[in-house]
Amino acid sequence: MKQDMILVLDLGSEENPKIAREIRAMGVYTEIYPHDLTAEELSALPNVKGIILNGGVNRVVDGVEIDASEAVYNAGFPILMSDHKGEKALPTDDAEREKVLREFVFDVCKAEANWNMKNFVDDQVELIRRQVGDKKVLLALSGGVDSSVVAALLIKAIGKQLTCVHVNHGLLRKGEPEQVVEVFRNQLDANLVYVDAVDRFLDKLENVPDPEQKRKIIGAEFIRVFEEEARKLEGISFLAQGTIYPDIIESGTKTVKAVKSHHNVGGLPEDLQFELVEPLKMLFKDEVRACGVELGLPDEMVYRQPFPGPGLGVRCIGAITRDRLEAVRESDAILREEFANAGLNETVWQYFTVVPDIKSVGVRDNVRTFEWPVILRAVNTVDAMTATVEEIPYAILAKITDRITKEVKGVNRVLYDITPKPSATIEWE
Ligand code: XMP
Repeated sequence: MKQDMILVLDLGSEENPKIAREIRAMGVYTEIYPHDLTAEELSALPNVKGIILNGGVNRVVDGVEIDASEAVYNAGFPILMSDHKGEKALPTDDAEREKVLREFVFDVCKAEANWNMKNFVDDQVELIRRQVGDKKVLLALSGGVDSSVVAALLIKAIGKQLTCVHVNHGLLRKGEPEQVVEVFRNQLDANLVYVDAVDRFLDKLENVPDPEQKRKIIGAEFIRVFEEEARKLEGISFLAQGTIYPDIIESGTKTVKAVKSHHNVGGLPEDLQFELVEPLKMLFKDEVRACGVELGLPDEMVYRQPFPGPGLGVRCIGAITRDRLEAVRESDAILREEFANAGLNETVWQYFTVVPDIKSVGVRDNVRTFEWPVILRAVNTVDAMTATVEEIPYAILAKITDRITKEVKGVNRVLYDITPKPSATIEWE
């Protein structure tokens, strides 16, 4: 690691990730550690320039107020104390806050703003080579942002020692499996195993209307397919994963209970336990995207909207049928195309189509039809806990409606869902 680093020690503040991001945004690398970091651990960390001790609402654990160890206080690093309950709190106003942090980082700690994606990629290439040696690495490449960036980074570091497995479960968006093959096999010359598991997934999902049951089947079948492919390959020692910093932070710290379990890890059977390679585990999402850009991945892969693991499966409401699933996929492709034409793809957080399991009467070429509706959804949010609805200009809605009713088989009606979260969720199931 060539970069200077500021440590944020967690004394129970919920704003630690925010502070870590704010300092990284100034070009200085940060890492968050538990309050009881030992002197040995501290001295093993490279290029530490200063420490922020940040207390907050969770500072009292089991009736005792936690604090950093004496050794950390006495290690000779500049320390910024903050406790947002008390007088020493960092300002809440963004500009004032930045001023305080900048003064500490640059004037007091004399840190250099040398955290950038080029250095990060260079460092990681070296670290990956050191960790992996001449051994082989396996990666489940979904085509999402995180796994794509991990793949590109590993290809740069170890080339054909990496094998990527892309499982097409039939629930991906139009053109996605093709793009994975084009980018990774054709352009980056990766070892890519493409698994067409469409029939397998859709057969398992037949006649299953319950959303949670559908999710379980998709998740379990994915592990099974991936495991089968892993067994066919010989001499694999490592499993690469697209774990990112929020996954680790959300898995819980010593002061905050887990928000969700870290689902990237685990799932594979005992005899298939590989050593993990997780080169993105210290990056926030926007940094992962910047890393993807640095590695030359296409924008449409790097700046993708969030897409649920069960994919279009939870947008084909109730028991999935192949024809209705195609209606979801085709209408989604039209929505994305028209959003891109209107520039809305750059501003709207998430947008997609849903096809419920109902039919209504329509008329086409003077003939009565009895077909599905397509529901459009377009929402904005910061953390997906609440969401507001995008006010799409009427002319764009009309254009999308016209195209979907003309081009998508089995659809005669289009609706726009104007419900915020709450009361609705973002997805329909
Ligand atoms: P809801 O519908 O809960 O969605 O308001 C919030 C966000 O989570 C995504 N989502 C999922 N992501 N697996 C995922 O990986 C899932 O089962 C799942 N369900 C919802 C949803 O797309 C939205 O961004």
